[in-house]
Amino acid sequence: MSQILTATAKSDLAGAQFQVHKDDLSKTRFADVTLHADDLQTDQILVKIDSFALTANNITYGQLGEQMRYWGFFPAADETWGIIPVWGFADVIASRHPTIAVDERIYGFFPMATHLVMTPGKLTDSNFIEAAPHRSELPPAYNSYLRITTDPTFSEAFEAYQALLRPLFITSFLIDDFLTDEKFFGAQTVVLSSASSKTAFGLAYLLHKHKGTTVVGLTSASNRAFVEGLGCYDRVVTYDEIGQQPEEDAVYVDFAGSAEVRRAVHEHYGGHLKYSCAVGMSHRELNPPGKGLPGAKPIFFFAPNRIVKRSKEWGRGGLETRLNAAWTEFVPMLQGWIKVIRGSGRSAVEAAYRSMLAGGVKPDEGHILSLWD
Ligand SMILES: NC(=O)c1ccc[n+]([C@@H]2O[C@H](COP(=O)([O-])OP(=O)(O)OC[C@H]3O[C@@H](n4cnc5c(N)ncnc54)[C@H](OP(=O)(O)O)[C@@H]3O)[C@@H](O)[C@H]2O)c1
Repeated sequence: MSQILTATAKSDLAGAQFQVHKDDLSKTRFADVTLHADDLQTDQILVKIDSFALTANNITYGQLGEQMRYWGFFPAADETWGIIPVWGFADVIASRHPTIAVDERIYGFFPMATHLVMTPGKLTDSNFIEAAPHRSELPPAYNSYLRITTDPTFSEAFEAYQALLRPLFITSFLIDDFLTDEKFFGAQTVVLSSASSKTAFGLAYLLHKHKGTTVVGLTSASNRAFVEGLGCYDRVVTYDEIGQQPEEDAVYVDFAGSAEVRRAVHEHYGGHLKYSCAVGMSHRELNPPGKGLPGAKPIFFFAPNRIVKRSKEWGRGGLETRLNAAWTEFVPMLQGWIKVIRGSGRSAVEAAYRSMLAGGVKPDEGHILSLWD
């Protein structure tokens, strides 16, 4: 068995984790951790987390940490605290794996931390599956890592957008696929809430290509101009204007998760609401689907479950090929839509997190962070 350790990784490494209180996401702390590369087991690697994105989606991971088992990916030593998962890039700094070498760069699901010890299992030239036992029961979509050096879709120029939007765009793609498969439940109009969110506008971009489908974006007054500027919604409507929309058959795709907005949409469309797809909770309300709402009953859409279904039907390669083609076409648009804002070090990470938690991030801002100064 080869053992490849870098000079720096041979000695003790000082690292840190950004932790949040599981019962109160506004309580945060940094935990110091010491890593010993010599402790790596056969087949394990130690990665240095270089950068990661922070969007409303990561706050939702924290809000649903218990319910959807997001705390289970990167458990903190003290279980009253959780580590929010993020999407980003890491470099291998020590390896006892026969194939994965020091200096390989990987992309995937990481803790808000400086390091991660990983146990790559099944692997190909372009990806591997994390096989740490505590992750085996968690949704497989989160356990797949891309090996950047050999990934054909990777572009350095779009690295920040990959961290910020690729996982969200996968959801956009899967919802577009689901609605197309279901022939839009007979409706011509698709109404999206939190239209300024990255997952929503990725979906709007894809829906906009369907001839005969009207894409309506619901958003806050302050985000209206941004949403109009995207050019992928046929109509942009503020939350207080829902009742002024035409009466027509519609499908609702809900990224906001606001009980008030959901009620307004269901009451306005009533029997014309053919399907109600509950996807997100960007408005931070932890509430069950409302009882007694007119129109179709809200049904939760969980992207990892759709990935499992389509991977079985199309094969893993089949899903990847379709996704890659859609992503490659979409990603250049982002340069005109999202400004990348970089922050390094503990205080920058904490400030960006607090701003995201408070809803203080503008939709045209994409935060790329690192715990390294
Ligand atoms: N079910 C799934 O499988 C799945 C997969 C991916 C994403 N999602 C969910 O989709 C949602 C959107 O995620 P994202 O990362 O795309 O979001 P994002 O780009 O960070 O969205 C930001 C938008 O969310 C709204 N918002 C954010 N914080 C708010 C606050 N504190 N109060 C009120 N509104 C706030 C605003 O939109 P408006 O003004 O336009 O409302 C804001 O422009 C998340 O809840 C995420 O978890 C679900």
